[in-house]
Amino acid sequence: MTTYNESIHYDKRMYAADILGSKAYATSLHQRNIITAHELSELHRGLDLVYTEWASDTFAISPGVDEDIHTANERRLGELIGTYLAGKLHTGRSRNDQVATDTRIWLRDTLDEIESALVDLLRAHLGRAEADLDAIMPGYTHLQRAQPIRWSHWLMSHAHYFTDDLTRLATELGFDSVIGNSLVGVADRDFVAETMMWGSLFMSHMSRWAEDLIIYSTQEFGFVRLADAYSTGSSLMPQKKNPDSLELLRGKSGRIFGQMAGFMYTLKALPSTYNKDLQEDKEPLFDATRTLLDSTRIATGVLSTLSIDRGKMLAALTMDMLATDLADYLVRKGVPFRETHHISGAAVSLAEREGLSGIDKLGLDRLRTLCPKFDEDVMQVFDFERSVEMRSAIGGTARECVVRQIKEIKVLLQA
Ligand code: ARG
Repeated sequence: MTTYNESIHYDKRMYAADILGSKAYATSLHQRNIITAHELSELHRGLDLVYTEWASDTFAISPGVDEDIHTANERRLGELIGTYLAGKLHTGRSRNDQVATDTRIWLRDTLDEIESALVDLLRAHLGRAEADLDAIMPGYTHLQRAQPIRWSHWLMSHAHYFTDDLTRLATELGFDSVIGNSLVGVADRDFVAETMMWGSLFMSHMSRWAEDLIIYSTQEFGFVRLADAYSTGSSLMPQKKNPDSLELLRGKSGRIFGQMAGFMYTLKALPSTYNKDLQEDKEPLFDATRTLLDSTRIATGVLSTLSIDRGKMLAALTMDMLATDLADYLVRKGVPFRETHHISGAAVSLAEREGLSGIDKLGLDRLRTLCPKFDEDVMQVFDFERSVEMRSAIGGTARECVVRQIKEIKVLLQA
């Protein structure tokens, strides 16, 4: 039971938060004349000594005695300054108050770290999007070639999700005020659940990002090539370069979802205030935050070191991907889109039937058999660069639109 009950081997990582909380608590005991100024300074001196032992890795955990970080710190404090004074620190508080406070303090700092890693990931997106603005590749729906887009447009689509994640995370930080109900103060773990819910959504974005890049890094696509540092070889097949970094990012999302769901099961149906079940928040929370931080940093590394192959991207573009542009051309000549869609579809099948390499090879005469509104200027349509530049509304893939998206996120990051 002793072993089953104790949490010291994992909650010891909150030692700094526990000592910070105790120092603040001692100060408030003095402010209320419960301890003298001398006692306060002795308590602070003792707590600082305990801190130094943890920080220098010399704190000796007493097996079977130190159940958790709170009991361990109190036991050691008593040895250092005497149990008479150390015993006064616990006036009016319970370990339940300590653990609720410590977890918040610890998590606030940890979320700060995740936040700054996420900012780095976004900066990596902005940097690449700016540097590779000229690269055009296929955009996909159903994983089938759809229309040409800028690679930077793809990058900014993911930056968009990550920016939402950042905004949501930033509103979770901080210790804005006291909790207005003591029963809630001691038992609330919504902030733990919320962190993992946040992490779940964030990792689903990360996983989709990774999945795209895994596909783009295959020999068949070849749009991107991962740096050696973020890929591995095969123990059997010498030619292989596997995107392990991306696969782990994709895989670890499942782990975060599981931790989130697991803790929700723990929370639901708990009777009011503290129950020991709540100790089960620590391991998933510690593991989830570690995973989130590591994953964000790895993703930044992957993105900032990969190389893109503009030639392969261009080679993947086919003229039929301009069928929508051909339909749009006729719209500008006054034909209703429903009809132009049909005409353009007929052009694609005609080119196929005639064994031509694309709709650009049909020539004006054959196009005119499909619709008399086709003119000499139709040949301008068969140009990928022009196609992306035509998409110039807000959120579009034209250069100025992508530049605007980059600027917007830059402004947000500066704020
Ligand atoms: N280690 C415990 C936790 O993480 C501290 C609270 C124990 N309180 C108690 N009354 N048994 O929740």
